[in-house]
Amino acid sequence: MMPLLPPTRRAVFRLAGGAAGVLAGAFGPLAALAQNQPGEPLKIGTIGAGREGGALGALFVKAGHKVMFSSRHPDQLKDLVAGLGPLASAGTVTEAVAFGDVVLLVVPYGAVAEIGQAHAAGLAKKQLVIDVSNPIARRDGEDLVKRVNEEGGAGLATQKALPGAKIVRAFNAIGYSQLATLAHRQPEPAGVPIAGDDKAALALAERLIRGIGFEPVAVGGLAMGKYLVPGTPLGGVHTPAELRQIAATLK
Ligand SMILES: NC(=O)c1ccc[n+]([C@@H]2O[C@H](COP(=O)([O-])OP(=O)(O)OC[C@H]3O[C@@H](n4cnc5c(N)ncnc54)[C@H](OP(=O)(O)O)[C@@H]3O)[C@@H](O)[C@H]2O)c1
Repeated sequence: MMPLLPPTRRAVFRLAGGAAGVLAGAFGPLAALAQNQPGEPLKIGTIGAGREGGALGALFVKAGHKVMFSSRHPDQLKDLVAGLGPLASAGTVTEAVAFGDVVLLVVPYGAVAEIGQAHAAGLAKKQLVIDVSNPIARRDGEDLVKRVNEEGGAGLATQKALPGAKIVRAFNAIGYSQLATLAHRQPEPAGVPIAGDDKAALALAERLIRGIGFEPVAVGGLAMGKYLVPGTPLGGVHTPAELRQIAATLK
C-alpha cells in the first residue's frame, strides 16, 4: 500500500524507524482465507511501544492503518503518537486489546504470561496476534528461557500463555533501527520469516507484512517459532530466497 501521509510525516517515520511469502505456490490459498480485502486499513493495537513496537507501529501507520500504541504507562507515549499523526493514538493495554482487529505483542518475554492472565480472553477474539517477543536470558533470566524451551520454545510457549489466540510470530530478529530503512527495499525486498498454525491469521499477517514493504516467508507452524529468535540462522536480514534455504535445513 502506498503511504497515505505527506512527505513531512515521512521524515518523522524515518526517525521513528529507529522501528516473504509462504513457500512458492502456497500464497494463493492462504491469501484467500484472509478476512479483509487486500489493502483495507485495519485497526492495530500494540502491547508494548518501546524500540521495536514503536518502530513497527510507525510502519503500520505509514501504510494507512490506525494504530493504538499501549504500555503500562500510556502517558509516556504522547510524543510518539503526536509525531505519527491522526492515525496513531495511545492507550492502556486493555484499550489497545479492545481497539485492535490485530494486536502486536512486542514486550520482554517475561511479560507474556502476565499479559495472558489479564488479556487472553480478549486476545483470543482477534483475527491475528503478531508475536514479536523473544525470550532473552540476559534480559528475561535463565529460568524463563529454560521454561520456554521446556514448553517447546517461543511460539508454543506464547500459545500456552494466550490460549485460543491466532498467533503468528514475525519480525523477531530484525532490529528496530533497521526496520524503516529495510521497508520497501529495492530491488529485492527483505524477507521476514513467519511461523503460525492458523491459516487465516497467516494470510492476514502476510498481507500486513507486504503492506509495510517486506516479503513474508512462512517457515512452518508455531513449533518453528523457536527458530525465530535473534542469534539463530534465520535471524538478521536475509532475502526471501535465503530464508527459504535456511528454513529447509531446520525441518
Ligand atoms: N529491540 C529490537 O530491535 C527487537 C527486535 C526484534 C524483536 N524484539 C523483541 O521485542 C520485544 C520488545 O523489545 P524492545 O526492544 O522494543 O523493548 P523496549 O524498548 O524495552 O520496550 C518494551 C515495551 O514493553 C512494554 N512492557 C513491558 N512490560 C509490560 C507489561 N507487563 N505489560 C505491558 N507492556 C509492557 C514497555 O512499556 P512499559 O514499561 O511502559 O509498560 C515497552 O513499551 C522483546 O521481546 C524483544 O526481544 C526487539
